[in-house]
Amino acid sequence: MSQKPPPKQFIKSPIKGTRSTIMVSSAKGGVGKSTIAVNLAFALQQLGFKIGILDADVYGPSLPKLLNIKEKPKSEDNKTIIPIEKFGAQCMSMGLLIDEQTPMMWRGPMVISAIKTMIQKVLWKDRDIIIVDMPPGTGDTQLTFVQEVKLDGSIIVSTPQDLALLDVKKGIQMFEKTGVKILGLIDNMSIFEGDDGKEYKIFGEGGVKKTAKEFNKEFLGHLPLNLDLRASADNGEPLTYSKPDHKISKLFKIIAEKIKPSFL
Ligand SMILES: Nc1ncnc2c1ncn2[C@@H]1O[C@H](COP(=O)(O)OP(=O)(O)OP(=O)(O)O)[C@@H](O)[C@H]1O
Ligand SMILES: [Mg+2]
Repeated sequence: MSQKPPPKQFIKSPIKGTRSTIMVSSAKGGVGKSTIAVNLAFALQQLGFKIGILDADVYGPSLPKLLNIKEKPKSEDNKTIIPIEKFGAQCMSMGLLIDEQTPMMWRGPMVISAIKTMIQKVLWKDRDIIIVDMPPGTGDTQLTFVQEVKLDGSIIVSTPQDLALLDVKKGIQMFEKTGVKILGLIDNMSIFEGDDGKEYKIFGEGGVKKTAKEFNKEFLGHLPLNLDLRASADNGEPLTYSKPDHKISKLFKIIAEKIKPSFL
């Protein structure tokens, strides 16, 4: 007896044009997802991978600013979109399709439709890895992605603060319920090094490592609060691209080694 095929909505496809897709997420806002997604992507590039970056934050896209992209993507047939190439990475963001100053006042179904377009209609070419920068929360964007795309895994970012970890734990459970592999947790803004040489633990200590242990996930590493990392975001040139030997870039490289796909 032949088996019935699964309902269409549960058939996950890989994103065309790439060998793997990794998400950077956190249910909490403002913890450094976009900064980490972009710097990790270029750390992977340093390891020899051909990278793509997909900014899935429809309401608050960061990629155009983080990479100082001013160009609009082109389409040859009005159906598909050609990603923008910057620093050797192929890039796509809702922020490239609309004016920087325009607020997105969209309801859920429009967001779902925009995310599906970005999943299906972008002409990625010959990529090894696409890094997806997720918006905060466990809403429409996250669900659309985990239902539609065959993902290789998700990296979860948090600060060590209890307030952040509360949301992050919900995010971990969302991925567990939807069958997405969690590649590990990153502790961002773990410490601040003052001019006096002292380390200040502004958001607390050890919380992310403890959460990783609690949920039996890998702890991928700490990233301190760092002025050069912040400035590189504002200058539109990721630190891991412009200064690969910077001490922060080296930390990204260690994380990239831990999460890199095994095919290279
Ligand atoms: N380790 C760090 N050191 C210094 N500044 C940082 C660090 N990580 C992130 N930032 C800064 O913190 C702010 C928030 O970072 P970012 O936009 O990457 O967070 P996010 O989680 O993507 O936010 P959102 O939830 O709004 O998408 C930015 O100004 C960024 O430059
Ligand atoms: Mg962001």
